[in-house]
Amino acid sequence: MTTISPSILSADFSKLGADCRMVLDAGAKMLHYDVMDGHFVPNISFGVPVLKSLHKAMPDAFYDVHLMITHPQQYAEAFAKAGASLLNFHLECDDDIQETIDAIKAQGCKVGMTIKPGTPVEELGYYLDQLDLVLVMSVEPGFGGQKFMPSALDKLRWLKTEKERRGLRFLLEVDGGVDAATAPQCVAAGADVLVAGSAIYGAADPAAAVRALAAL
Ligand code: DX5
Ligand code: ZN
Repeated sequence: MTTISPSILSADFSKLGADCRMVLDAGAKMLHYDVMDGHFVPNISFGVPVLKSLHKAMPDAFYDVHLMITHPQQYAEAFAKAGASLLNFHLECDDDIQETIDAIKAQGCKVGMTIKPGTPVEELGYYLDQLDLVLVMSVEPGFGGQKFMPSALDKLRWLKTEKERRGLRFLLEVDGGVDAATAPQCVAAGADVLVAGSAIYGAADPAAAVRALAAL
């Protein structure tokens, strides 16, 4: 079984609560919450207040928050208080990396780090022993519904090898263009957690799509 974290960026925001419940009922273990600031990425999504409402309605869900924002450090407290279970930020952000990790941990949140497709995976090496999760982007962040970039598979393999060699505990997650065709390749390359947006919410039967991915 593989952990599925549906990207609710592809949900219908007019019925966001119901769309979250549906994937949780289908067996999704996390909700992937894509925060975009219109600066780090050329798109704007949702922020603290929406997370707060979801958490109030579904307090037991695991909120896998993906911060595609230039300054994650100053928002760690607000997202943690709103209900984030894990705060995942980009190595390419403008904040001090160690200070941002520390700020997230100080809030009692799990901490994850992410890299864009153009960033060498080895640049994460120094931080790996402090992380609960590492997210490999398999599209340029900013939009759902893009095509999977196979170069992510080499990064997953490198991270899995490092994890085993160093005896580390982080979960390995992949995000972008993950669907029935690409998900098996990601799992074979070492992914523990699959993020999928359009492949779930764009499916005729989203619950069946969650179950099919989770069965990998
Ligand atoms: C992209 C986001 C992804 C996106 C995934 O910037 O980080 O989480 O919503 O969407 P799909 O699965 O449609 O590629
Ligand atoms: Zn994401």
